[in-house]
This record gives sequence, C-alpha cells and structure tokens, in this order.
Amino acid sequence: MASVKPVLKWAGGKSQILHEIVPRLPSDFNHYHEPFFGGGAVFFDLQPPNGTINDLNSRLMNFYRQVRDNHEELIETNKKHQREIDELDDEATEEYYYDKRDEFNSLRQHGLCENEVLEASLLLFLNRTCFNGLYRENQSGKYNVPFGRRTSPDVVREERIRAAHDALQNTDIRNQDFTYVKHVVGEKDAVYFDPPYKPVSETANFDDYLAGGFGADKQRKLRDLAVDLHEKGVYVTISNSPPARQLYEEDDVPDAFEVESITANRSINRNGDDRTGAKEIIVTNVPQHMRQGTLSSFGQEDDA
Ligand SMILES: C[S@@+](CC[C@H](N)C(=O)[O-])C[C@H]1O[C@@H](n2cnc3c(N)ncnc32)[C@H](O)[C@@H]1O
Repeated sequence: MASVKPVLKWAGGKSQILHEIVPRLPSDFNHYHEPFFGGGAVFFDLQPPNGTINDLNSRLMNFYRQVRDNHEELIETNKKHQREIDELDDEATEEYYYDKRDEFNSLRQHGLCENEVLEASLLLFLNRTCFNGLYRENQSGKYNVPFGRRTSPDVVREERIRAAHDALQNTDIRNQDFTYVKHVVGEKDAVYFDPPYKPVSETANFDDYLAGGFGADKQRKLRDLAVDLHEKGVYVTISNSPPARQLYEEDDVPDAFEVESITANRSINRNGDDRTGAKEIIVTNVPQHMRQGTLSSFGQEDDA
C-alpha cells in the first residue's frame, strides 16, 4: 500500500518521526482513532480502514470533510486560486493573500460556515502561502498569520487530495474535545494521541494552535483518559514533550505503559537514564509482541 502524505503542513506534524511512532502502534486492531488530528501524518501513513479522526479546530475538520465528500469541487476551486496567483507579481500576490485571509475570516459566524468548499480551499491556499505554514488564531478566533513569500506555491495539491480522499472514505470526522473518544472506543481499538505538547519551560508557549489552549489540567485529563482506555482493553499510544514523562510515571499509571525518549532520527533509550537530547517522548501500552515493528515506507520529507 503506497504511503499517503499529509495535504496540510501543521505545527507538530509527525512526518519526520513516523518511523518512531508507527512501530509503536499495534499491528492488529479493530478501529483506529486520532483525537488530535492536525495534519494527520500518522493516519495517512497507516490508512486504517475505519474509525474516527477529530480536532477542536472547526475549519480544519471542515477541510477533511470536503476532502472526503467533495474533493472534485475542492480541486476545481483550488485550481481557480492557482490560475489567479499565477498571473500576479510578488506584490500583487501579497495583496491577494490578505484579501483571501479576510474572505476566509468572514465565512464563519458563530461557528457556522456559509461556504464549506470555499473555506476548505482557502485554508489550503493560506497554508501554502502564509509564513511557515502556520495556523494561528487571535483571541476572537480570526486566522492572523502573515504572508509567507514563497515562489510558485502549488495551491492545488491534486494528487495528495485524491489520495487523502481515498484514505478518508470510511472515517468518521469529528470536531469535539479529545474526550469524545471514551464514548466511541471498544476493546482492541487503537488510539493515537498527539496533543499540543507540555511546555519545555514556563515561558515556552506550545498551546497556540487555537484561541483557548492546552494547559496542565488538560495534560492530566489526557493521562487519566489513557489509563481508563487501557482498563477497557484499548491500545493507546501518545506523543508528548519530555516534561510530560513524570505524569506517565506516577504510581497510579499501570506498569503496562512504557515511556520512551526519541530524537528526530532514532530511539535513544527506553524508560531511560540518559535522556540528554531527547526531543519527544512516546508513551504506549502496546506490548512489544503486538507492535507493528519496523515498516519500510516512512517518508522523511517534511509536511510541506
Ligand atoms: C500536535 S497537533 C497534532 C499534529 C498532528 N498529529 C500532525 O501530524 O500534524 C495538536 C492538535 O490538537 C488540537 N487540539 C488542541 N486542543 C484540543 C482538544 N481539547 N481536543 C481536540 N483537539 C485539540 C489542535 O487544534 C492541533 O491541531
């Protein structure tokens, strides 16, 4: 099965470390759930036959709904944006960007979107032309990332959209808090949690994805949910930053949970001593003999 690449670039995207995460998922499971979807690098690599994906970002989940249900119309709308920017010089492209950003921000009132295909197309357009492929909202929920000056961006991504469309066919797409998952999981389901990371320092701000945030209380709630799911016989795998390790090493966490430190390229230890240089941790209750192990198709390219 050919690997599918994410359509959107997303902060915290996992394309670079798929080779660390996927082997720690179970090789056999019933349904797959990904409650903090973002760019969905793990889901697209795995292409599970069914399950749920979710993110609190409404515009993001509308995007995947359009990819699943209206991809031809989405591709046509993207092509219109491509034709328009291909005619413009740099200065005019920047002006066009800010016009489209205003249009994007005007489409949603009180959570309701007046043109879902257009919003999805504009989300992709902004993702491809903004500064660094960031998604950031101000306090009133307006997308506010500045223009990013890229030469000849492909704002259509036709092949990726077609592949993602196929991968999403039997997937339930949700837009709720991550805790929805406790109501939909069953025994031997697999859940991959990739929350906004626990800050490395008091001042580092890792919860900027949405107006709102993901503080210490939610990190603990996620840990408690992981323990509940474990007790229901669910396979749980979680990515986080090194400061989250202590939460998963507290006494009330079952021994079945292993915490492993990884760098971008290799696993440096298990349950470890020398954690210098660790960039992330992966927590999982999947027993060694049930894991996917090493697979071959991991893309090393970035999410762009
Ligand atoms: C680290 S990112 C996910 C990255 C993703 N795995 C990828 O490969 O691109 C975290 C995501 O969690 C979402 N999020 C934040 N708080 C949430 C919550 N309470 N429930 C569900 N999703 C949430 C953010 O919108 C963001 O897209």
